[in-house]
Amino acid sequence: MTSVAPSTVVHTRAPGKINVFLAVGDLQDDGYHELATAYQAVSLYEDVRARDSDEFTVRFTSTTAGIDLSGVPVDDTNLAIRAAKLLAKAAGYRGGVELSIDKNVPVAGGMGGGSADAAATLLACDTLWNTGLSRDELQRLGAQLGADVPFALMGGTAIGTGRGDELSPALAQGTFQWVLALADFGLSTPAVYSELDQHRLRHQADISPVVRSPRVDSAVLQALRAGDPARLADVMYNDLQAPALHLEPGLAAVLELGEQNGALAGMVSGSGPTVAFLAPDLDAALELQLALGATKLEVVRATGPVHGARLIAD
Ligand code: C5P
Repeated sequence: MTSVAPSTVVHTRAPGKINVFLAVGDLQDDGYHELATAYQAVSLYEDVRARDSDEFTVRFTSTTAGIDLSGVPVDDTNLAIRAAKLLAKAAGYRGGVELSIDKNVPVAGGMGGGSADAAATLLACDTLWNTGLSRDELQRLGAQLGADVPFALMGGTAIGTGRGDELSPALAQGTFQWVLALADFGLSTPAVYSELDQHRLRHQADISPVVRSPRVDSAVLQALRAGDPARLADVMYNDLQAPALHLEPGLAAVLELGEQNGALAGMVSGSGPTVAFLAPDLDAALELQLALGATKLEVVRATGPVHGARLIAD
């Protein structure tokens, strides 16, 4: 890796994600659930600029309408700060870093925005400090920060197992067109998982037992490999959708609205509350964006798959 001069700004970019398939297994002793998920990185990005500093600081800006920065912490609990500190410790680096993040992935929206911040920060600090760590080592540090961080580093299309952090790349062709309805509230990921556990407990007698190690449906892999949105729409699935709808019943109307306006399918993204609609093509996506926008929802378009975290030459 190249070394950088003092006062240099390192600029990196990492994508948000959509889980086009997400099956949740049993709760494990470590408080996490065994997952089987198909990730697709999409063209909503977190841009991180890192400069040398004695302290660890972060500030956020956004140019995307509907992104509310007010709830994002800027203290040591922030995932980007945690990422920088973890890397400094692993690399034996004694200084700090000043981070500026331009945020375009919805906050607490189920699209991995915090994870993208962490991934882009790991790459930025790795470059700024010239640590010499390998991409695999960065992936391992990423997994300590959150289940989705390794995927934000990797990007593209991948299957995630374990907590979602054990990744294997999946073949995909073509470009999928997404329309995303942003909510003006966030949902806490642990709260959505816990709602799922409680639901499963309440209905133990009348639902089939939870699969301990779930698997991604092979039809999902085939649809991704074929680059066929209609086939993918038929098999998109998210175990976290029902608990997210239970916590935020208003999301059901958003799903219905999208499906009435040309979406092939709609789904709560990850733990929500962002709703992701898959469109058959760009024209349909533009129409859907207009139709949903007319109802005062904040709507953004994205395509996938896209690259994982990378350096940007300014
Ligand atoms: O790893 P991350 O910080 O993204 O996870 C947030 C929370 O989501 C965890 O504390 C856990 O409650 C829940 N989670 C889970 N099983 C997973 C991933 C996340 O229960 N595989």
